[in-house]
Amino acid sequence: MAEQKKIILTGDRPTGRLHIGHYVGSLRRRVELQNSGAFDEIYIMIADAQALTDNADNPEKVRQNIIEVALDYMSAGLDPARSHLFIQSQVAELTELTFYYMNLVTVQRLQRNPTVKQEIQLRGYSEASDGSDNKAGTPVGFFCYPISQASDITAFRATTVPVGEDQEPMIEQTREIVRKFNAVYGPTLVEPEILLPDNAACLRLPGTDGKAKMSKSLGNCIYLSDSAEEVRAKVRGMYTDPNHLQVSDPGRVEGNTVFTYLDAFCKPEHFGRFGECFHGKKASFDFGSLDEVKAQYRAGGLGDVMVKNFLAEVLNDTLEPIRRRRKALEQDLPYVYEVLRQGTEVARAKAAQTLADVKKAMRINYFDPGVLEELIKEQSEKYK
Ligand code: TRP
Repeated sequence: MAEQKKIILTGDRPTGRLHIGHYVGSLRRRVELQNSGAFDEIYIMIADAQALTDNADNPEKVRQNIIEVALDYMSAGLDPARSHLFIQSQVAELTELTFYYMNLVTVQRLQRNPTVKQEIQLRGYSEASDGSDNKAGTPVGFFCYPISQASDITAFRATTVPVGEDQEPMIEQTREIVRKFNAVYGPTLVEPEILLPDNAACLRLPGTDGKAKMSKSLGNCIYLSDSAEEVRAKVRGMYTDPNHLQVSDPGRVEGNTVFTYLDAFCKPEHFGRFGECFHGKKASFDFGSLDEVKAQYRAGGLGDVMVKNFLAEVLNDTLEPIRRRRKALEQDLPYVYEVLRQGTEVARAKAAQTLADVKKAMRINYFDPGVLEELIKEQSEKYK
């Protein structure tokens, strides 16, 4: 067998602009992996078909956000010369694969998938249907999306899937499908590995309100495309330690969202560049590391305002180049759509090859060259 290529497949549902949770949870890593040169092929998918599984009544939202996600991707540093950016719904082969994989997964197994379970709860699908609310009940397509995600991953023979922690059950489900397929039909599909962020703060970045997840519906997001002023305002309003009432009080760092964000974004160089945030009339500090800031906060005497001013500088330092690139790309949409069109073409060719291999392994490639002759010979035996 040929040496195994190293291939990345990952993506996002286009239901809104991407925020800094997406960035530290996966996007920043993808760009690093892309630039490392360690991968033979990289596919980044805008999962519009998956987004429709729980937005059937709002297709316009999905349609509008395809370009937003593409702009966020490219401004964050995904480079079309090295990564194929594509639109899921335009690769029809993925749905065909899904149809065959569906036979390898039980309803009971899907019901146990923790992410599916949680999302059904979150969307209120589990409420009993009385006919008055067409939202009640789980759409079949939504219920099956882990299978479709297995198609996304295996169609590209992905070895590596960089995603956030919430996607872990999806990758596990994919691995099961691969093992089952290969056991039944012979070795055909590649078992992928998940690649999670290595920093705990990045695994699940909380919202600005301290809630477990950054989410558009909760209104607690900082978007990659927010202006410097918006970022400063959002940081000013952030949740810290509710018991840190006086500057002189000792403060808590654990569970303090401002510090979680610093864990995710702060670099040693920021202390030299933004050290003046900690110089005030009443108190002045010269910190050389985040650990020193935390120690002072815990001891008391360091106010939230200083830490927040520093965080806003740190965030804007990261976001400024992204914003700049976005502004330029926004003025060149024909180029962005052309990137998606070409990326989709490459993706389709790759998925078609895998689908052909799958159908061959399943022996449902009746009209492939050479196969029909064999088939006729075989079946004719019956009537001799
Ligand atoms: N489920 C992912 C999300 O909600 C999007 C996605 C679809 C995906 N197919 C994928 C991610 C395949 C990684 C691999 O963001």
